[in-house]
Amino acid sequence: MYPNNVISALQEFKTPYFFYDLDVLRNTLEQVKKHAISKGFHVHFALKANNQTRILKVIKEAGLGADCVSGGEVQRAIDSGFSPDEIAFAGVGKSDEEIELGLKHDIFCFNCESTQELDVLNELAGQHGNKARVALRLNPNVEADTHKYITTGLNENKFGINESDLDTVLDKFPDLENLELIGIHFHIGSQIEKFTPFEELCSKANALNSYIEDKGFKLTVINVGGGFGINYDHPNDHSVPDFERFFGLFEENIKLKNHQSLHFELGRSVAGQCGSLITRVLYTKEGKAKNFAIVDAGMTELIRPALYQAKHRIDVLTSDKGEKTYDVVGPICESSDTFRKDVSIPEVQRGDLIAIRSAGAYGEVMRSAYNLREANPSVYSDDLNT
Ligand code: LLP
Repeated sequence: MYPNNVISALQEFKTPYFFYDLDVLRNTLEQVKKHAISKGFHVHFALKANNQTRILKVIKEAGLGADCVSGGEVQRAIDSGFSPDEIAFAGVGKSDEEIELGLKHDIFCFNCESTQELDVLNELAGQHGNKARVALRLNPNVEADTHKYITTGLNENKFGINESDLDTVLDKFPDLENLELIGIHFHIGSQIEKFTPFEELCSKANALNSYIEDKGFKLTVINVGGGFGINYDHPNDHSVPDFERFFGLFEENIKLKNHQSLHFELGRSVAGQCGSLITRVLYTKEGKAKNFAIVDAGMTELIRPALYQAKHRIDVLTSDKGEKTYDVVGPICESSDTFRKDVSIPEVQRGDLIAIRSAGAYGEVMRSAYNLREANPSVYSDDLNT
C-alpha cells in the first residue's frame, strides 16, 4: 500500500492513469546490477514490456542495453539514449524498412529466426555496405509451464529455428557474405515462475553451443532471453524478483567458453512491479448474484486479465471499511472487461481511488483506443507533490 502522502498526491490526477514508482524501479535495477551486470552478464531490457522514455532513461543509466522487436522500438531506444551498440533487434517478422533502420544505425545484433530472413538481411546489408551481426534464434523445445499465449519455445510455436533445420541454416553462412554470425539466442516464454524450465534451457543451450562451435563457428554471444516471472499478489510495494537465484542458476548451469559472454533480455521482471494502474470507482452495483465495483479503467488500459486471465492485486487507496466481495469491472462493452472476480477488498463507494498493482510491464504498452477511449498522461513518483 502507498503511504498517505503519496495517496493524497495521487488524488490530483485525472484517472485512469499509470503511476510509476521510480524508486521501486531503481531498487529493482540495483539487484540486476548486483547479480548480473557486476558479473559481466549483459542485460537488455525488452522494450515491449514498457517503452516510456522516463522509464527507459532510468534503465539505461543502470547499464542495461535494449531489446527491440520493431523499428518503432529501435527508434525509441535510440531516442531514449541507448547507444546502437547496446541494441538488439529480435522478432519473427521484421519488415525491410525496419531492418534498414537497424542497418542504418549499425545496431549491435539482429536476432534472426528463419532462412528467408537471413537472405533478406544479407541482401539489405549488402546494399548498405556494412556487415550485419547476427544471432540465430533457436527453438530449444522446452516447456515453459506458463500461459499458452506466452509460451514460445516449443516446436509448435512460430518462433525460432528448429533443431532439425539448424544444419541447413549453418551451411548457408559461407554464402551470406554480408552477415557475421556472432551468437545464439533463446527465449522460451514469459511469466515463468518455476526454475526447472530455465535449467532445461541451459542444458539445451550448452549442447547447441558446443555443436555449432565444433562446426567452426565462433560464437561470442549466448543469449538466453527473458521470461523471469513476478509475483502478482505481493503484499507490499517492493517485491523485487529473486534475481540472485535467477542469475545464479545461469551462472551455475551455462557453460561459457573463454571468448563468450552471457546475455539476457528481461522485460517484466525489471519493469513490472514499479507500475500501477490508478482508477476511480464510478459506481457500485448490487447485482443478483454479485456486487460490482465499476471503475473508470478498463481492458483498454490493462488487457492482461481479459487476455491471459491474469490476476493483478487490487489495493483500495481511500477506504478503510470492512471487506466486501466484488467483481471489479471496467466500462468497456465486453464481459471480459473484468479485472478481478469475487475479490475481497475494503467496501468502496463512488469516487474511491484504487490501484491495480504490478502493471508496469505489458500494461501501458498494450493500451488500446477501443471504444474511442482517451489516454491520460502517466504520473511518475519523482514528480509528485509529497
Ligand atoms: N525476449 C523475447 C524474444 C521475447 O519475446 C520476450 C517477451 C522477452 C524477451 C521479454 O520477456 P519477459 O522478461 O518480459 O518475460 N503480453 C504478455 C507477455 C508477452 C511476452 C512476449 N515476449 C503478458 O502480458 O503477459
